[in-house]
Amino acid sequence: MRPGRTVRQAADPQEVATLAADLIAEQVKAKPELTVLVATGSTPMLTYAELARRVQAGELDLSRVTAVQLDEYLGLSETDPRSLWNWMQRSFVEPLGITRTVRLDATAADPRAACADYDAQIAQLGGIDLAILGLGPNGHLGFNEPPSLPDAPTRVTDLTPESQASNRVYWNAEVPLQALTAGMNVILAARATLLLVTGAHKQDILGRVLHASSTPDVPASLLNGPEVTVVADAAALGSPA
Ligand code: GLP
Repeated sequence: MRPGRTVRQAADPQEVATLAADLIAEQVKAKPELTVLVATGSTPMLTYAELARRVQAGELDLSRVTAVQLDEYLGLSETDPRSLWNWMQRSFVEPLGITRTVRLDATAADPRAACADYDAQIAQLGGIDLAILGLGPNGHLGFNEPPSLPDAPTRVTDLTPESQASNRVYWNAEVPLQALTAGMNVILAARATLLLVTGAHKQDILGRVLHASSTPDVPASLLNGPEVTVVADAAALGSPA
């Protein structure tokens, strides 16, 4: 059996961001041409802001990193305000001075071909070095909705009502009912993974990820090797700060 993941507790979301930025900076210093799988969503935004602060201060150079999009709503063009590609550009790519990206093209006439092209680009880069992930309220990773097997490929998925509801909050608008997501096989093959979790509303699902047995019914529970670091605040861990 592989030794389990590391859990780092932070007092609050800002400390999660500082710790996560430290871990990302270490990886980039060791390998400047890092290939990073990039989640959007609310949780990693403070981390990306902290990275941007370090880049602007000249403490960190991320210009040789490749940013790989994690997920996208099916059919949305990159100019749609709800596009996750757009969100990754605004929050990660532009502020960090990144020029190399891999897009999950949800407007392709043939989404399955777009998924194959995405996987081929990742393979050409030598795989994902670092996955930066958030935790869905139902345990999803990207849009790998429960149940998702460890070998679930990059594909079109149907969003659960729970994910539709949590995603509506970002835009105060409806979101498409389907999405493209990096497969569990892509995510689980990452050489290092950071799972960022903040807030009391994630306490129950994080408890299942950390303490119940690994199951496709909680896709994030399949992240369980030594390459995985969970950085969570006291509210999400349900422990005193
Ligand atoms: C969303 C996205 C994920 C994100 C997760 C957590 O639905 N598909 O990529 O990581 O759910 O989102 P948040 O950080 O906003 O809680």
